[in-house]
Amino acid sequence: MTTEQPGVQRRTVLAAGGLVIVGGALAACSGSSSPAATPEPASAPVSAPGVQSAAVEAPVAGALAAASEIPVGGGVISPEPPIVITQPAAGTFKAFTAICPHQGCLVAEVSENQIVCPCHGSIFSAEDGSVIQGPAQQGLTVADIVLQGDSIVLA
Ligand code: FES
Repeated sequence: MTTEQPGVQRRTVLAAGGLVIVGGALAACSGSSSPAATPEPASAPVSAPGVQSAAVEAPVAGALAAASEIPVGGGVISPEPPIVITQPAAGTFKAFTAICPHQGCLVAEVSENQIVCPCHGSIFSAEDGSVIQGPAQQGLTVADIVLQGDSIVLA
């Protein structure tokens, strides 16, 4: 059982044994003979039209993103620490390392519940981080998050 603190809601219970991603964690490359791509910083958080713009509480220090900025079916990419936060269904938030397990690029886009790596086209599920399309052989690592007001923070 989880004891919730006032103002803190745990929206997502993740199955990765409480793994918390620390900035700079990189997955190993797949052994491809092509040169490793350099991770690229996200140019801006991913957003989509139609996001609700209701009054928002002040962000919590260290917040990865505001829940109100994450569209259903979409996501936001935090470059530092490199975490992608998704909302696969209304009110359900998930988070994964934003470093592609293929060769270490920062994922760059989330739409239609798919997380896309721009370097070689791997696609991951925004619901569980699993591989939808390679060349990545492994899915994105789950990160535990907690919703504090409108702010999403690492657990
Ligand atoms: Fe190759 Fe992501 S680094 S698909």
